[in-house]
Amino acid sequence: MKKKILLVDDEPNNLQLLRQILRASYQLIFAHNGQSALAAVAAHHPDLILLDVMMPDLDGYEVCRRLKADPLTHDIPVIFVTAMGDVDDEAAGFDVGAVDYIHKPVSPAIVIRRVQTHLSLVHVKELEDSQREAIYMLGAAGHYNDNDTGLHVWRMAAYARALAEAFGWPEHLAERLELAAPLHDTGKIGIPDGILKAPRKLTAEEWVTMRQHSLIGYEILQCSHTPIFKMAAEIALYHHEKWDGSGYPKGLAGDNIPQSAQIVAIADVFDALTMKRSYKEAWSVEASLEDMRANSGTHFNPALLTIFLNILPKILNIKKEWDEKD
Ligand code: C2E
Ligand code: SIN
Ligand code: SIN
Ligand code: FE
Repeated sequence: MKKKILLVDDEPNNLQLLRQILRASYQLIFAHNGQSALAAVAAHHPDLILLDVMMPDLDGYEVCRRLKADPLTHDIPVIFVTAMGDVDDEAAGFDVGAVDYIHKPVSPAIVIRRVQTHLSLVHVKELEDSQREAIYMLGAAGHYNDNDTGLHVWRMAAYARALAEAFGWPEHLAERLELAAPLHDTGKIGIPDGILKAPRKLTAEEWVTMRQHSLIGYEILQCSHTPIFKMAAEIALYHHEKWDGSGYPKGLAGDNIPQSAQIVAIADVFDALTMKRSYKEAWSVEASLEDMRANSGTHFNPALLTIFLNILPKILNIKKEWDEKD
């Protein structure tokens, strides 16, 4: 399907020229002034707008400002087409939310290239949005039960990111971890409700089943080879390993446990202890930290736990934000 482009100019010759440049590759809609541009956007939902700046009545800036203020039209990229080469005017255009400028008289090669560039940026953003949403849905599914929509997995993800940053991870990896961490318990999808929601301690037999959630999550997530899901699969598999080698499923010890999983172990346990679960009440922050300190070097990487305690004010801010949302 051809992408739709809205061309707005009060000068018919200019519209005609743009039409000749773009008609072969795109579906075109035309407007001769600001008011009809707004009406055309509402009626046709174009993928991109080429907008003249100087028009009588409603000028291009005002049209752009109104489009950006409306959530329905906010994401449509606007490129200004202008005779003015003045830097101040260009700054004004970016201020109201334009993504780019094309100068008159327009060159066909430049028009085609700019239009292609901004349409493909929209495509990338859509892919990123769907990836984020898929993560959100999968993460929520892993934590779903009657009175809990799983929203809170993003709280422990924020803890994990803060800890990764303080640990010295580069920004792009800390960001990746924040997206991967909510998937750590995806494998709980495969655990029967009778075990998952048991309001009591699990029997030895039930516990064997419960521990399978690491492996099940790994099996589900390793199907993808994108960096986020690869990290998520690694975290799902190893987030219950312990520093002294007494964890599951593999009994890895120390730095044989991937750093991503070492970080998530701390974020996950802090979250589990401070929140209510079917089988336990919420513990106070003090009691939770005391328990975690007692497990430094046995359950947790001691250096990492020290960093976690050092950034506690930041962690508690994240917790407070989420407690207000819940
Ligand atoms: P979860 O509730 O998300 O807990 C994650 C981790 O937080 C646990 O991993 C454990 O390391 C820590 N944690 C949670 N509650 C406590 C606690 O009361 N005391 C201490 N010291 N640590 C706690 P773990 O043990 O591998 O458990 C994995 C998952 O298994 C839990 O995830 C939960 O879904 C389930 N589970 C664990 N114990 C029980 C239980 O007694 N009853 C039920 N119904 N489920 C349990
Ligand atoms: C597995 O054994 O299922 C995963 C292999 C690994 O990453 O250690
Ligand atoms: C890192 O590059 O520091 C993270 C690698 C890992 O997942 O352990
Ligand atoms: Fe888990």
